[in-house]
Amino acid sequence: MPSQSVKLSCKNIWKVFGGNAEKIMNETNSENLDETLKEQGCVVGVRQANIEIYEGEIFVIMGLSGSGKSTLVRLLSRLIEPTAGEIIFDGKNLLDATEEEMIEIRRHKMGMVFQHFALLPHLTVLGNVAFPLEVQGVSKVEREKQARQVIELVGLKGRENYYPSELSGGQQQRVGIARSLAVEPELWFLDEPFSALDPLIRREMQDEFLRLQNVLHKTITFITHDFDEAIRLADRIAIMKDGRVVQIGTAEELVLNPADAYVEEFTSHVSKAKVLTVGSVMAAPLNANDVAGHVSVKDLIADVAVKVEAADKPLAVLDANGEVVGSLSRDKVISVLVAGEGYAGD
Ligand SMILES: Nc1ncnc2c1ncn2[C@@H]1O[C@H](COP(=O)(O)OP(=O)(O)O)[C@@H](O)[C@H]1O
Ligand SMILES: [Mg+2]
Repeated sequence: MPSQSVKLSCKNIWKVFGGNAEKIMNETNSENLDETLKEQGCVVGVRQANIEIYEGEIFVIMGLSGSGKSTLVRLLSRLIEPTAGEIIFDGKNLLDATEEEMIEIRRHKMGMVFQHFALLPHLTVLGNVAFPLEVQGVSKVEREKQARQVIELVGLKGRENYYPSELSGGQQQRVGIARSLAVEPELWFLDEPFSALDPLIRREMQDEFLRLQNVLHKTITFITHDFDEAIRLADRIAIMKDGRVVQIGTAEELVLNPADAYVEEFTSHVSKAKVLTVGSVMAAPLNANDVAGHVSVKDLIADVAVKVEAADKPLAVLDANGEVVGSLSRDKVISVLVAGEGYAGD
């Protein structure tokens, strides 16, 4: 479970592309800002974004192509400079770091994976994964030892001496993942790492990724334009549109309370049973005689459906302490499964 301590955040961060963007932003009042930026040929990549990423969570940034996701993740790692705003990493303003300090931070504390990343074609899997450690100045024996461990972790044991051209797309992406993990980063950024893979391999990689996170507990920023991928992976999701972060929440919160029509559109095709918890649809507790068995308030409807449907009475709903907090009937589960609705209460 992720903690609630903030590992990385940004405050009112802007990225405006174009020559004198900063000057325009400083000199123009907010009503005329958009118009003036446009007149001057500037493009807004990220607009006044505020996010907080908790230690150990998978924070997914989701949005259509061009909505500003990659720009935001580059700002968070300070690969590009913000036009305005702050980035706070472990309580320190990242913008105060010198260029040398930033290189050190990126080398030692940040791991990055991109959709189209370059493996070094003349290096083997082992050489590619050990490369960031070589850059750090780690000895050959030590870096190869560490590289072998992460190669095993991502399921490529036995392929240490293959060259990238001898690997499938999915395997190459695993090498990229291993390489990004070699330095044991505190922050792990993944920008659409699975988007180029075909659906079956993609699902496999998602499972693999969740398995890795169960072992590693990294603080992760994961970008995708696919809401299904987002709900499979995310602890929390930020939805972006036109450079703005329009809503942040769990998949369930986004489905239950979409902030606007755009978020609703994204969530409308999602199987409700896979995001709604028992707690969001349960009714008042019943007498002990009127229930058969129990489920947890945090279970997903999809995961308890078979059990509830098989029971001849409603089930008791228990909280984390085993206290009865509600009841769940077959009719309710069926209404979620069939209509995809029925969660708004009785
Ligand atoms: N280097 C750049 N110069 C000018 N405009 C850019 C640059 N990088 C991104 N943009 C613009 O910023 C917006 C957001 O892009 P991006 O962050 O790549 O979106 P996403 O990753 O969500 O597809 C787009 O309108 C894009 O054209
Ligand atoms: Mg992108």
